[in-house]
Amino acid sequence: MFKADHHLVLAPIRGVTNYIFRNALEDTFGGADSSISPYIVTKESGELNKRQLHDPDFSINKMPTTSQILTKEVDQFIHVAKIHRDLGVKKVNLNMGCPYPMVANRTKGSGLLLHPERVEKLLTEIKEKCPIEFTVKIRLGRECKSEIKKIIPIINDLEINDFTIHARLGKQIYKGNVDIEGFEECLPLLNTVPCYNGDIKSVEDFNRLSTRMPQVKRWMIGRAALSNPALLSQIRGDSYNEQKYRAKFIQMHKIMSYEYLNRENAKSDYLQRMREHWLYFKDIFEEEHKVYKKIKKAKTIDQFHEVIEWVLDQEISESVLN
Ligand SMILES: Cc1cc2nc3c(=O)[nH]c(=O)nc-3n(C[C@H](O)[C@H](O)[C@H](O)COP(=O)(O)O)c2cc1C
Repeated sequence: MFKADHHLVLAPIRGVTNYIFRNALEDTFGGADSSISPYIVTKESGELNKRQLHDPDFSINKMPTTSQILTKEVDQFIHVAKIHRDLGVKKVNLNMGCPYPMVANRTKGSGLLLHPERVEKLLTEIKEKCPIEFTVKIRLGRECKSEIKKIIPIINDLEINDFTIHARLGKQIYKGNVDIEGFEECLPLLNTVPCYNGDIKSVEDFNRLSTRMPQVKRWMIGRAALSNPALLSQIRGDSYNEQKYRAKFIQMHKIMSYEYLNRENAKSDYLQRMREHWLYFKDIFEEEHKVYKKIKKAKTIDQFHEVIEWVLDQEISESVLN
């Protein structure tokens, strides 16, 4: 059951949980205490994607948002952390969980987990130089859950208190079961209680896990909160009948459409952005396949809006109501 000292974090999902989504969620269903923005990749050339760089900017975010960086280079991390400090960001997170071979094979993301000596050097230097609070998101390992056991003493020594574990291995990418036991094995070894992440798909999942691990107070939820934007507030005890759900979702969708259409170069990528959200939103509806097929077929903004008008009238799935 949700308790007053529980903290719900909206997970970073690249291409989806940007500030437009986060703000629209906060303005409608609500339920997240904080979030981490999707990672920004640093490059040797120093070139940074402007849109990603500004995503965690304090002045445009309604939800407390930690920024996230994917890198193995201290200087590049510190460079972005300073820019984010100047944008009012309070905390910055190092991504040590990204599973994609293109990233991990270059000793970044979960690829770092095979090299505890590199992790020690990287985290020690970041801790020394980082101008704002430094946090870490990690997996149990890349190949094997014994890997995190070598990282934990480093986390303890550096007193990194905001630490999230996605209870999977890098080699699983995002599939297969989460390893709750593997997560539990870390608890007595850590000086700080970590944030749990992985496969919380329903209120029942949250209640089961929070009963099983009463010492855990921070819970990060990703994909299920994109498929059912009411989930975080439902975990807190809010309930939705079909009418209330539909009204909130229409409002959320309206806000997102408006924001995407009114930002710079908006029209060119509006449909692509919205399609990425609908990859998840389709699950709200009873006939999700039919809904998504129609959305994919819309080739112009007008066609898309016509389809959305139809979609928003469709039956909402029992699975998202409570
Ligand atoms: C498409 C996609 C993009 C993701 N992007 C990021 C990211 O930018 N940074 C990060 O730390 N994790 C990222 N993740 C991982 C999620 O934050 C989260 O750890 C994972 O989905 C497990 O939580 P969930 O089961 O609640 O979704 C991504 C996951 C997916 C599926």
